[in-house]
This record gives sequence, C-alpha cells and structure tokens, in this order.
Amino acid sequence: MKHKFISSKMKKGNYLINDRVLSKHVPETKWYYDSTFNNMLERHSVLYIKPDKGSSGNGIIRVKKLNTSESLISFKATNQKYNNTQVVTEVKKRMRGGKRYIVQQGVSLATNRNKPFDFRYVLQKPSKKWVLTWKSAKVAPRSSSIVTNVAQGARDANVEKTLNGADQAINVPAVLKKLTSVSYKIANKLGSRFPFRIIGLDLGVDKEGKVWFIEANSKPSFSGLRKVDPVQYRRYLNAKRQIEADR
Ligand SMILES: Nc1ncnc2c1ncn2[C@@H]1O[C@H](COP(=O)(O)OP(=O)(O)O)[C@@H](O)[C@H]1O
Ligand SMILES: [Mg+2]
Repeated sequence: MKHKFISSKMKKGNYLINDRVLSKHVPETKWYYDSTFNNMLERHSVLYIKPDKGSSGNGIIRVKKLNTSESLISFKATNQKYNNTQVVTEVKKRMRGGKRYIVQQGVSLATNRNKPFDFRYVLQKPSKKWVLTWKSAKVAPRSSSIVTNVAQGARDANVEKTLNGADQAINVPAVLKKLTSVSYKIANKLGSRFPFRIIGLDLGVDKEGKVWFIEANSKPSFSGLRKVDPVQYRRYLNAKRQIEADR
C-alpha cells in the first residue's frame, strides 16, 4: 500500500472520536462558526482556532477567558484583551480568508522551566505492524508561547528529561506508558481508515498528567532531527527504506 498525505486536521482527528478509549484523549473539536466558537467558549477556558490545513504553527489563534466579561486573544507575538462582545469580531480579523478553520478545546500543557511543551511521536508501518520509531519533546521558546512548533522557535528535547524536569508533579513512568499506548492506538485507528505508512503525532500532557491528542501529521518533518538523536534517526530511516522498497 502506498502512503498518502492527508492534510485536513478535522478529517483525521474526527475519526478518532469513534474509538471509545481514544475519544477521551481528543480535545473537543468543531468546524469554526461563530455559533460553535461561542458555544465552546462557554464551556472551556481556552480555545485554539487553527487553519484546518495549516502546518508549522502558522495562523493559530488562542483565546483565553480571563473573567466573565473579558478574554485574551493571542496571535503571533501579540496578546490583546477584549470585551467578550468583541471577541468573535477580533478572532475573525485574524483569520485568513479562503481558509477553513477548526476550533478546539485548549489543553493546559505541562511546562518545563515555565515553558509549555508537547511531544512528537512518529510511528511507521514498514510491513504489517505499526512501529514507534521516534519520540521527542518540543519545548516552546517562551512561557507565553502559544505553539510548540520547532518552526516557531521550539527546541527538540528528550522526552524523559523533559517530563522529569516538568514544573508539575507528574507520574513520569505512568505518563510515558500512556503516551506509548495512546500513540499505537491512534496509529492503528488512523491506519485502518487512511492509507498511511507514517504518522507524526503531536501529543500533549496537561498539568494534571493527562495525555491529549493534538494532531496527526501524515508528512512529518524530519529536518534537523538527525543531529538531535542519531540512533532514533537511523531507526526512522530504516523503516522509511522498507516502506519505499514496498510499493
Ligand atoms: N488544543 C490545543 N491545546 C493546547 N495547545 C495546542 C492546541 N492545539 C495546538 N496547540 C499548540 O499549537 C501547536 C501547533 O498546533 P497543531 O495542531 O500541531 O498545528 P500545526 O499543523 O500548525 O503544527 C501544537 O504543537 C501545540 O503546541
Ligand atoms: Mg503540529
């Protein structure tokens, strides 16, 4: 089977909620409409608005409820406070015309030296089974960062070290196990629906230690990763060669 790239976040994420176990790890996600946004803002303290076909952390807007009347909108390097009656208009000013957006429940990511981080787990399917070939943490450059993409200045780091150095009391062995089991479950689920042979998952761990799915990439970037961890990189390359030989 030939690998196919699918860019829509909604298409991939939405399929996971069909799984009883995985649905608990997927933040609530809807197509952006003023109505879905307003409805979700009533129920969640933080919302992420993202281009459905975006990448590298581009175009992402974060809305954080400050109190019953005000919200903070973060976009690129700006943070501005608005009255809740203005929020929809202000969010829309930051959206690019012609692009479809999703609105997603925000995950309160765990931090390391005050910087939020998430994880990249890469699974490949060289033959019959999915294999976890790469895992790394992505630590945001600033405590105020709203994204942890390396393209936006985040640093690639070791998963265990990053969790051990978290500012929150996290049960590291339990979280590591969960990250691995959730990543395999996601790969199996998405692999049963889409012709994927590589999946790069963005997984978050919140301040309580709960594991969350953020997005699945079917064309994960590997630029620079060879230097970060040559052993894992070799494992990735070997699987990649097997996949390329088999099509
Ligand atoms: N629901 C969310 N809660 C918390 N952080 C998020 C959420 N969605 C995205 N982020 C942050 O933004 C980054 C980029 O979002 P992502 O969905 O991976 O889009 P992209 O395709 O641009 O990488 C994530 O790695 C994470 O740091
Ligand atoms: Mg991403």
